[in-house]
Amino acid sequence: MKKILLDCDPGMDDSMAIVLAAKSPDINLLGITAVSGNYPVDVTSANARKVLEMIGCTGIPVARGMAKPMVRNPPPDPFTHGTDGQAENFLPEPEMPLSSLHGVDLIIETVKNNPGQVTIVATGPMSNIAMAFAKAPEIIPLIPEIIAISGSFGLNDYAFINATGDTPQSEWNVYVDPEAAEMVYTSGVPLTALGLDVATHFDVNFSPEDIEWFRSSPRKEARFLARAIDFVGNRGFDAYCTIIDCMAVGYAIDPTLVETMKGRVGIETKDGLTLGMTVLDRRHHHVWTQLPEISIGKKADHGRFLELVSSLVLA
Ligand code: BDR
Ligand code: CA
Repeated sequence: MKKILLDCDPGMDDSMAIVLAAKSPDINLLGITAVSGNYPVDVTSANARKVLEMIGCTGIPVARGMAKPMVRNPPPDPFTHGTDGQAENFLPEPEMPLSSLHGVDLIIETVKNNPGQVTIVATGPMSNIAMAFAKAPEIIPLIPEIIAISGSFGLNDYAFINATGDTPQSEWNVYVDPEAAEMVYTSGVPLTALGLDVATHFDVNFSPEDIEWFRSSPRKEARFLARAIDFVGNRGFDAYCTIIDCMAVGYAIDPTLVETMKGRVGIETKDGLTLGMTVLDRRHHHVWTQLPEISIGKKADHGRFLELVSSLVLA
């Protein structure tokens, strides 16, 4: 079983990512750290616990992390996840307590207690992870991999999908805290960035039959997903919006789901039209070797990914 720490900003799709990570027999979910992103951290840290209570996994620690990006103020999320941040599922207020550790310290402690073993899955802005690296740089060589929903790399038809409504060239998680993303990208920890251009898709989606299975399932998490699909559908969005972040967990479970390539990537940290853009150096010559080399999601098997999500949600 792969040891995972999930750093997230739930968010309906982060909520579904928690469901997958907690239910997968291939994952040992050691902890969840919440960060400000889709909503302020008080909401995201409550939402993470609401999800764990929904699926009866209250033994997994949830820590409240950074309330703000590293140097900026949090921007409002233009892509609504509803008044509760969970597609208006209105789950009960959580009873399980927060971890006594700050999110940054839960990351540091979890990595130190499991040296070389903890994959960090990041589905929100990278403020917690960057701050953990700043506070305890000794953990950096102890992390085998970070898998992140991060950026957009223009590697397929959906090159720069603006699914989260930030700048024309940026993806939400990097846009919110570009300085944190830059710290993580340049940290030396092996990073796999799954951009919006692979984590979103229009032509492969849940079928009406799938959605009916979710709606009529005895599993609360399946009915949560059905309501989220209805919620985004009523606002003109496709069902995939409810599971964008799930692709990072899916890749952690089964790396054959996404074909990756190596590339050198820089992050735009200047304000303006391209703030938060992940710039892939595509040149064959004169490539900027000063940019960090990371793994980038190139092509996903969306059919198999949807099957994985469905099977775990209904299990
Ligand atoms: C990100 O947008 C947010 O709404 C999702 O939670 C996801 O992490 C993708 O850009
Ligand atoms: Ca997210």
